[in-house]
Amino acid sequence: MRALTWHGKHDVRMETVDDPEIINPRDAIIKVTSTAICGSDLHLYDGFIPTMKSGDVLGHEFMGEVVETGARSTLRKGQKVVVPFTISCGSCYFCQKHQYSCCDNSNPADNQDISEFGYGNRMAGLFGYSHMTGGYSGGQAEYVRVPYSDVGPIVVPDGIDDDKVLFLSDILPTGWMAAENADIEPGDTVAVWGCGPVGLFAIQSAMLMGANRIIAIDHFPHRLELAAKFGAETINFEDVKVYDALMEMTGGIGPDAVIDSVGLEAHGLFVDNVVDQIKVSTFLGTDRIHALRQVILACRKGGRVSVPAVYGGFVDKFPMGAFMEKGLTMKTGQTHVQHYTQALLAAILEDKVDTTFLISHRLPLENAPDGYKLFHDHQNETTKIVLKPGREKIQVEMPA
Ligand SMILES: NC(=O)c1ccc[n+]([C@@H]2O[C@H](COP(=O)([O-])OP(=O)(O)OC[C@H]3O[C@@H](n4cnc5c(N)ncnc54)[C@H](O)[C@@H]3O)[C@@H](O)[C@H]2O)c1
Ligand SMILES: [Zn+2]
Ligand SMILES: [Zn+2]
Repeated sequence: MRALTWHGKHDVRMETVDDPEIINPRDAIIKVTSTAICGSDLHLYDGFIPTMKSGDVLGHEFMGEVVETGARSTLRKGQKVVVPFTISCGSCYFCQKHQYSCCDNSNPADNQDISEFGYGNRMAGLFGYSHMTGGYSGGQAEYVRVPYSDVGPIVVPDGIDDDKVLFLSDILPTGWMAAENADIEPGDTVAVWGCGPVGLFAIQSAMLMGANRIIAIDHFPHRLELAAKFGAETINFEDVKVYDALMEMTGGIGPDAVIDSVGLEAHGLFVDNVVDQIKVSTFLGTDRIHALRQVILACRKGGRVSVPAVYGGFVDKFPMGAFMEKGLTMKTGQTHVQHYTQALLAAILEDKVDTTFLISHRLPLENAPDGYKLFHDHQNETTKIVLKPGREKIQVEMPA
């Protein structure tokens, strides 16, 4: 089959690889009809996530048709399913608590990895996201093996457009959980850093949860425009000082809840960000946490910090004093996707949530390397790319 493979920093290729096969009775094989590129994929593309191997098949946001089932799969051939990026067994201590992204069974036990040393516990399995999350082949491919297919995939109604439901695989539940983790109360002002797909879905979710005001922060005008369409006030961090602007907008107290949807590759020519950049490039550090620092300093006393954004290592100059002295709380984590899919599918079918506004490009899977370059180099023009397997490669124009 054809699949997108990782070969190193900024080196992804379309290649012919072995077709997946059923290995365990609970597996199913999915023929991918749509798959998307995520901000998390950019962390792989930029070489920030350890334990990638040359030839790994990427992709964790995908959906398609069931073409093969193991003896204990509950799926049927021909069904259309969206697959959560988190691989979860459904029965371990964590899955029982609906903490699906903490599943203790989906990262093979014979695969002792650096997450056990670095994080104290092994991570759960994720599709197409390095060997410390199980080394599973991802869904930017024609076919994927889906383990625990009786737990994860959500069957969607026949005839529904892929574009409407594809984002149930990750970013819609991620934006929703980000807003839920902000414990929004009526009347709240919520500030959201990063207006990529995750931030934009967090904004939409926070609105639905009753936030009174939302303030969106980014530097790409087009992404800020999309945030404004959902009713957010906007701050372009290249034009004003974010902390000062937020204090002015909130009568000097700061937002009630803050959401970091930026992550370990913060942009911006700020002193701390430049220092982080030097440290990361000289292997003295792992993450650029400018947004996280700003989120904590700007949050009001007693406020809530939600971090859907990905961080990977041991961070430097984390404002622990401010975090403790201001009495903040923080919630974070890879999304417990399976916990949210049914309710969010219903919200989509009832037209309460809009998902298609986000898609800026639909490309053949064969153009996936162009897609990564677009999403990485031209974020103002590119908000979300959906890839379609089985179509011929086209000529892709890069923005000027
Ligand atoms: N928790 C999860 O399960 C989960 C799931 C999906 C994505 N993520 C993570 O969420 C983050 C966002 O994902 P995405 O797909 O929206 O990515 P993205 O790269 O498209 O968006 C990130 C946005 O942050 C903005 N940004 C950069 N520096 C900033 C700064 N200093 N201040 C304000 N904004 C800034 C960028 O301009 C960009 O628009 C990534 O870290 C991704 O890995 C986490
Ligand atoms: Zn994703
Ligand atoms: Zn489990």
